[in-house]
Amino acid sequence: MALISANFLVFFLTISLSIPPILTASVVEDLDNLKPPPDFNLTITNNCLRNPNLRYCKASPFDLHEIFKSTIVASHLCNISNNPNCVESFPKIDLHSQPKIAPLYLSFTFFWKYCPLTILSIDLSNSSLKGNFPFEVFNCSQIQQLDLSHNELSGDVPVQNFDHLPNLTFLSLSYNHFSECKISDKNFFKRFNTTSFIHSGLLPNQKKFRVKAVLLLVGFPISVVVTIVWFGWLCFWRPDFLPKFLQRKYKFTPSTLKAATNGLSKRNLVAKSSTSGIYRGILRDGNEVKIEIYWEIISTESRRRFVEQCKILVQLHHKNIVPVLGWCDNRRFRAIVTKWIDGGNLETWLSRSAPPWKQRVKAFIGIASGTCYLHEEWPEVGYDLKTRNIRLSSGEPLISRLKFDHHNSSTKKIYKFGVFILEMVSNRRPLEDFERGETGFVEWVKINYPDNLENVIDKRMKRTGHIVREATDAIEMGLMCTDLSSGNQPSWDHLSNMVSNM
Ligand SMILES: *[C@@H]1O[C@H](CO)[C@@H](O)[C@H](O)[C@H]1NC(C)=O
Ligand SMILES: *[C@@H]1O[C@H](CO)[C@@H](O)[C@H](O)[C@H]1NC(C)=O
Ligand SMILES: *[C@@H]1O[C@H](CO)[C@@H](O)[C@H](O)[C@H]1NC(C)=O
Ligand SMILES: *[C@@H]1O[C@H](CO)[C@@H](O)[C@H](O)[C@H]1NC(C)=O
Ligand SMILES: *[C@@H]1O[C@H](CO)[C@@H](O)[C@H](O)[C@H]1NC(C)=O
Repeated sequence: MALISANFLVFFLTISLSIPPILTASVVEDLDNLKPPPDFNLTITNNCLRNPNLRYCKASPFDLHEIFKSTIVASHLCNISNNPNCVESFPKIDLHSQPKIAPLYLSFTFFWKYCPLTILSIDLSNSSLKGNFPFEVFNCSQIQQLDLSHNELSGDVPVQNFDHLPNLTFLSLSYNHFSECKISDKNFFKRFNTTSFIHSGLLPNQKKFRVKAVLLLVGFPISVVVTIVWFGWLCFWRPDFLPKFLQRKYKFTPSTLKAATNGLSKRNLVAKSSTSGIYRGILRDGNEVKIEIYWEIISTESRRRFVEQCKILVQLHHKNIVPVLGWCDNRRFRAIVTKWIDGGNLETWLSRSAPPWKQRVKAFIGIASGTCYLHEEWPEVGYDLKTRNIRLSSGEPLISRLKFDHHNSSTKKIYKFGVFILEMVSNRRPLEDFERGETGFVEWVKINYPDNLENVIDKRMKRTGHIVREATDAIEMGLMCTDLSSGNQPSWDHLSNMVSNM
């Protein structure tokens, strides 16, 4: 036996291994039984002379027994690993899926200490290895492949030690239980890509991962909350920042209106009373608007009615009615938003520029058209035909004071239209100029018509025969409209015809 051992050892120590055919017993038995041959000292000395790189050559003095044991383990390993020719080469240690013997071989530290230089690949995968990373493999610094996957290894991976395996190109630590933390060596993860660490417990590019995890775990919920809060804020406070299709048509929020008026600034204030104010503002879409704000706190029922009325107002579409753009309904803040009309009102126009007859007729026709539209389509909507309340926009009169008034009978509306015509012809203010207001005004016209016609027709106007004739017609129409004795008032159709024939 000793002879045979000596024989194979010669091969092992010179180049690689030679497994004698009798070496059939288990490696443990062999380790117990075999003793180094007498000339073993000489053999390895010679080997070292020939190849000083052999690992045991660096040991001095030689531990002959240990070196001999390692040759036995080597011979077994080479054979088990299915190397094609254990006499001449020992390129791989293949203990993959060998849970019974892999841990045993791993425990022979004397073997790993003298790891044969020919080994280029170590495969210990799927072999039920437990405990810490097997440091033994680092002795085989020449290896190119190391597979420790599918084991139960735990603890830290000695990342730094991989610097001692410069030729390692394949590494697999996948499917183990290594501890996650303390891996900060970037080069390590650069050298081996993520396929080396699948389910290993290691977190390659851990910082990145941590950033991602933080983003996901913390950032995501925060961003969701922020988005919801922001969206909620927009919906409830500034819907004008939302895309058009998400905005509630016609509904304005107090914040939107405040933003449109520089925070209800004095500069934007046009008129004010104790409970209301009229502001001029610019919406985010660039539209200039008039905002009538009411501060008085009213009952829920009144607010409901207010909203209902606003819903009607926004539906009015006529060239002689100021467009209502929407409303704001808030407990302590209600508002109606209408288009801002740049021109002045009829009263100022009438008294300052003494418009020629033709332009006055245009105003009659416009107002008649507007009132007829309201009468036909929206009889519940009332208005105030005082010349002060009629705006002028590019020569077109616009009814601006719309209101819901149950006392708005048709008769009264026609009466008011009559007063309006007489006012336009005469340029007299019924309420200011006459003691009994409109009634006094109408009586004054009746007194002067037809005998003192020149008193009634605005004196500043150029008065040709034609104009006087038409003005006379207008006065007659005005008187008809204001004649409340039964049956004398013209009907709406009649009125509309008369006006369009002017
Ligand atoms: C070497 O391997 C062969 C089969 O590959 C086997 O028959 C033989 O018993 C093994 N020798 C040792 C010493 O294990
Ligand atoms: C081995 O041989 C060398 C000389 O070649 C000697 O110095 C050494 O003591 C020997 N070692 C043993 C353990 O016999
Ligand atoms: C792992 O080893 C077991 C036997 O121990 C075997 O059944 C299984 O197929 C092996 N798995 C892999 C992935 O090699
Ligand atoms: C790595 O490979 C090169 C070339 O094959 C070789 O010269 C070198 O000794 C090897 N390094 C180690 C530590 O074995
Ligand atoms: C990882 O590296 C191996 C070789 O080491 C290569 O085959 C594989 O494609 C690489 N995978 C990625 C995702 O880069």
